[in-house]
Amino acid sequence: EKWKARIPRAQDAKPFSDLKEEWNDFEEKAELLIRYGVKACSFTFGLPPEETAEKLKKSGCFLFGTATTPEEAKVFEERGMDAVILQGIEAGGHRGSFLPVKGEPALGLMALIPQAKDALNIPVIAAGGIFDRRGVQAARCLGADGVQVGTPFLLCEESSASPAYQKAIAESKGADTRLTTLFSGKQARGIVNQFMKTYEADEGNTLPYPLHNTLTKPMRGHAAQSGDAEYMSLWAGQSAAKLEGPTDVRTVLDRLCES
Ligand SMILES: Cc1cc2nc3c(=O)[nH]c(=O)nc-3n(C[C@H](O)[C@H](O)[C@H](O)COP(=O)(O)O)c2cc1C
Repeated sequence: EKWKARIPRAQDAKPFSDLKEEWNDFEEKAELLIRYGVKACSFTFGLPPEETAEKLKKSGCFLFGTATTPEEAKVFEERGMDAVILQGIEAGGHRGSFLPVKGEPALGLMALIPQAKDALNIPVIAAGGIFDRRGVQAARCLGADGVQVGTPFLLCEESSASPAYQKAIAESKGADTRLTTLFSGKQARGIVNQFMKTYEADEGNTLPYPLHNTLTKPMRGHAAQSGDAEYMSLWAGQSAAKLEGPTDVRTVLDRLCES
């Protein structure tokens, strides 16, 4: 009730569902991947059930899991994943963390890649803050077998990111992003805006994911429609400041591959 009173438009939010309900159609989704012969599937926020992972693998689907610590990477390997995505603290969007930690659930890629690489026997893919060839080379130097890139694609003409969101990324400076739980109840990296500033002191007092996400949905939807960047989630990684738009997917890929 406290958050409902503070978050704009939260009164219009749908009734709460819990994580269990969110999982209702999980097996159905897995069956669709098998039926349509999907060749790759990536998991985040935790492990898929053992049986589901086995079924998908048998169907020829290449499986990825998102890990934020060497320990999470190891349990993904043990669950039969074909490769692990190492999500560094630099990465935009939600954190895939799912195991308890003593310290922060967020390592920089510089520390994470070699630790995970040495502990695993499957390929590791580095994700977070990479936007050009230099990042790819650095990740490979540290032991990564590949990279995953998200934020640079948001400024592409092929992206469905709203103009206000794209403008916020294009105009952002070096340290304009931070981790927040204020939009969904789960840590995610985005460009700081008015909503994040207003409730900064309440980081950590949010409802758990996905409940908080449900409460902010009408506010985020309205902000997206009206082009108001101050009340939408501006998910972006630490590469945001180096990005210029408009661009396209070919150009982003060329920058990553150029020698
Ligand atoms: C807007 C946005 C949405 C994302 N959505 C997902 C998602 O649904 N599933 C997922 O596994 N990762 C998601 N990611 C994370 C990316 O797959 C990738 O790991 C990350 O963007 C890499 O860091 P970078 O943004 O600094 O390039 C998202 C990232 C962004 C920026």
